[in-house]
Parts: sequence; C-alpha cells; structure tokens
Amino acid sequence: MRPLFIVLEGPDAAGKSTQLELLAAELSRRGIDVVTTREPGGTDLGRALRGILLDPRRRIEPLAELFLLLADRRQHVEELIKPALAEGKWVISSRYTLSSLAYQGYGRGIPMETVRRLNEIATGGLSPDYTFLLDVPPEVALERAGETDRFEAEGLAFRARVREAYLQLIKSVPNGYVIDATRPPEEVCRRILAHLPLA
Ligand code: TMP
Repeated sequence: MRPLFIVLEGPDAAGKSTQLELLAAELSRRGIDVVTTREPGGTDLGRALRGILLDPRRRIEPLAELFLLLADRRQHVEELIKPALAEGKWVISSRYTLSSLAYQGYGRGIPMETVRRLNEIATGGLSPDYTFLLDVPPEVALERAGETDRFEAEGLAFRARVREAYLQLIKSVPNGYVIDATRPPEEVCRRILAHLPLA
C-alpha cells in the first residue's frame, strides 16, 4: 500500500500532540513505518522560525507572519515530508496548509485566494491524503491552554473565528473529517483510525 500523508488540524490545545503520539503508536503496532512531525518546526530551519513566530514579545505583520510560516512549510515538504513518503514511510503532521487558511486567512484577514496560492507554491501541490480536524469549543481550548505564546495570547473572538473557519474549510477538503476532540484521547484516536484504510 502507498504510504499515506495524514494531517491533524485544530485550535491550540485540541490535543493534536497527544493524538500524534497515540496514532503513531497504533500504526507502528500494525507494522507501519511512521514519521511524526509538526508545523511550524518540523525541520532545523523550522525550529528557528517557530521560535520567532511564537515569541510573544515580537510584533509580526500578518503577511510577514504568513511568509515565515510558508518558509517553514516549504522546507518541511522538501526536507522531511517528501523524502519520508518516498522511502515508504507514513507521515503524520500536526498542522499543514489548512492552518494558514484558518489563522492567517480567516483569523488575520489575509485574502483567502492569496493564502491558497501561496500554499500551493510552498507545497508544490503536495496535499494530505487524510485531514482530521480535532474540534473543541474555544472556551475548552482556552481552559486547556498552558503557557501563552504569540498565537495563544489572542482572545476568545479570534479563537472563535478560527474554529468557524476550520469547520467551513474542512467541508471542501478531500478525505477531511471533523473529530470531536472533547472525547477522551483513546476514543478520539479510535475515531480517527476508523477512517483510515487499515487492514
Ligand atoms: P502549535 O502550538 O499547534 O504547534 O502551533 C503553533 C501556532 O502556530 C498555533 O497557535 C497556530 C500557528 N499557526 C498559524 O497561525 N498558521 C499556520 O499555518 C501554522 C502551521 C501554525
């Protein structure tokens, strides 16, 4: 079977990192070679960019923010995602192109067409095989959130906008599914696995 590229999306504190681990463990148990990664920060360059992007003391203009995220994405696709898939490994990434549409498009107000076109350039057209939106109400996400980075410092209104954006956007994503992430982690993982073409 062809290796799959799977993306987990959702607001901060939706449990993406936990699901990344649970999913990878379950797939490995089934003998699948899995690489887990995230955006921003899946590569060495990406980790440096993540530091800049999340620093709450830094002021970053919306389009500049998008360009930094796209630089991270481009490097991620070329250095990690494509080579891993070419080696037959499955790749699970926390966040990808949909995050930019939700946060920089709907959230920051950059025209959606601009974000779409730039995403296309950054990824060279590489789309996920499956996208899972881990959905939690903004109040729950806010309650769960730990430290405050530059994005988490945004208020409830921004978070609500991002959630609505995700719920709209996922409808037009091929193999895109909404998963209720207020459920216990093991159940969330089971619901994700149920959509995957596993023997
Ligand atoms: P994380 O905490 O889920 O790893 O993500 C870090 C922050 O980066 C998160 O608050 C959302 C933000 N982000 C965007 O705004 N646009 C993007 O395209 C990506 C990948 C992340």
